This record gives sequence, C-alpha cells and structure tokens, in this order.
Amino acid sequence: MTKQTPSSPGAPGRSALVIGCGFVGAQLLRNLSRSGWKASGITLSESSADALRSEGLEVVAADLRISDLRALTKNDPSVVVHCASSGKGGAVAYRETFLEVTTRLIQDTNFEHLIFTGSTSVYAQADGSLVTETDSAEPERETGKILRETEELVLAHQGTVLRLAGIYGPGRCVPLEKLLSGEAVVEGDGERIMNSIHRDDAVSALYLAAANRCPGIFNVADNTPVTQLEWFRWVCTRLGRPLPPSAPRNLNRKRAWTSKRVSNAKLRSMGWSPVYPSFREGLEELIIERG
Ligand SMILES: NC(=O)c1ccc[n+]([C@@H]2O[C@H](COP(=O)([O-])OP(=O)(O)OC[C@H]3O[C@@H](n4cnc5c(N)ncnc54)[C@H](OP(=O)(O)O)[C@@H]3O)[C@@H](O)[C@H]2O)c1
Repeated sequence: MTKQTPSSPGAPGRSALVIGCGFVGAQLLRNLSRSGWKASGITLSESSADALRSEGLEVVAADLRISDLRALTKNDPSVVVHCASSGKGGAVAYRETFLEVTTRLIQDTNFEHLIFTGSTSVYAQADGSLVTETDSAEPERETGKILRETEELVLAHQGTVLRLAGIYGPGRCVPLEKLLSGEAVVEGDGERIMNSIHRDDAVSALYLAAANRCPGIFNVADNTPVTQLEWFRWVCTRLGRPLPPSAPRNLNRKRAWTSKRVSNAKLRSMGWSPVYPSFREGLEELIIERG
C-alpha cells in the first residue's frame, strides 16, 4: 500500500458507491468525486439526497433494509463503502442495517472491495490498556456482537473493517453539545479514557482503504486518547466554564462502559496520519466555528 491522502489524484476510472452519506459518508463522497472517482451515494431520506444533489453529487434515496440492492448497484461499483448508521436504534436496527444489508450486498451484488465502518466499541477492555487490532474484541452488548458478526463477514470476503473511535467535526461533537446544554457529567473520578477521531481524518482513512484496497481490520482513532477529566478540563478552561458536576459511572450507556487506549499504529504504518492528532486541535476549530 502506498501513501494516499484525500487530495491525492485518486484512481481515475475507478468507481465507488457510498451507502450512508451522513456526517462521514457525505464527506467521503465529496472527496472521491473531487479526486476523479466515479462516485455515487445513497441516503435514507429524500431531503438528505436532495441536499447532496444540490452540491452536484450523484445520490439516490433508498432504504437499504428493504431495497433491491442489485438495482442500487447496477453500475457494478468497484468499491462499496457501508457507512450507513443504525440511527439511535438498538439490536434490531443493528441487525437490519449492518448484518443483513452486508449479507445481501455480498450475496446479491458485484463489487471488488467492500469497506465497512465499524466501531472501537467492540473492544470491551475497561482497564485502560492499549488495544491493537490483534487484541480481543469481545463486546458484551448484543449491538457489539452484531458489529463483530458483520466484521467477520466482511473479512471473509477480503474486505476492510475500519473501527472508528468517537467521531466529531464541523457541527457535531456530542460531549461538547452536552457540556453546553448542561447535561454533561464527569463520571466517577473522570479516569475513563476517551478515543476520538475527527470526521476529516476518518474520511482520509476510508479514502486510503478505498484507493489501496487493503483488506483487514484498522483502528481509526487520533494519536491521543485522553481521560474524560483531561478532556473536560481543557475544554472548560478554553471556554471559561466550570467543570461539569460529578456523577456515578453510567454502566447502562448504549455502547457499554469501557476504558481503553485505542492504538492507530497499524493505520499509521500504512501512511495515514491524522490532521487532528488530538481533540485539542479539532475542538479549537469547533469553538472558533461556534463563535
Ligand atoms: N458517530 C460515531 O461516533 C461513530 C463511532 C463509531 C462508528 N460509527 C459508524 O460510522 C458510520 C458513519 O457514521 P455517521 O456519524 O456518518 O452516520 P450518520 O451521520 O448518522 O449518517 C448515516 C447515513 O446513513 C443513512 N442511512 C441510515 N439508515 C439507512 C438506510 N436504512 N438506508 C439507506 N441509508 C441509510 C442516513 O440517511 P439520512 O441522511 O437520510 O438520514 C445517513 O446519510 C456508521 O456506520 C456509524 O455506525 C459512528
């Protein structure tokens, strides 16, 4: 695999279908299209598709769970990127959107390379240890187990699984939104480790995987896992706000209570490096953006 960035010339003549053009997928579609790929995308709603079409992108609205995937992929894209989300759904939505759509993509459609956006939530480690792609990924929750099942299916077909950390970027940062709305809490002693990735760095990792067809699992996180307390201290100091109140650990959180430092060394060894090496660079931009 060679070094590749979103601004690289890309692969003229190659085609890609991005299924799920949301926060990450829409930016990937923009980058692929700008770089000379024949790229198209799918959203669930007409309103999202319309907004992207108004930028000159090729997008159709369809519900993947019930659509004829053969018809949606009739142009035989060489690369299919599955980055549709499950919305706020639980295990049923995970099964339908991740496992069943991926199964049908493999059975019913023609492509050379399938890329799946998974999640670092599959690592159940809670002891603050460093986790790489070869460490155990045995999630406790049903949703995590479905993600793992989907990963195995993709890997069995020489596909790529990108395990994304918590995504933030222009107009979206869940912990910042909670802080500003007064809902944020510091859990326990604040020692839980958070792993983040800026949207643009997630997109450059997806682009790299698409352009270089690298099978296997890759963690996609920035260089700097931080404790929750470090995160809030930096952001609150920057905003001149008090730290949020303390509260007991939320053991019922959707993605299970974990604490680990996700290593991005494998992806970095492939030539990728994040433009936002820590949350600080990304948050600085978001804070300036908010005015
Ligand atoms: N957010 C995180 O921190 C995080 C962390 C790890 C992994 N991930 C994963 O990363 C991927 C990308 O996340 P994201 O934040 O970019 O997601 P997002 O902003 O929620 O966008 C999801 C996109 O998928 C489309 N979609 C959802 N269900 C669909 C269906 N049934 N048929 C067709 N299209 C459908 C949505 O269409 P509409 O625009 O019409 O709604 C939207 O365009 C997802 O797989 C997510 O699970 C996210």
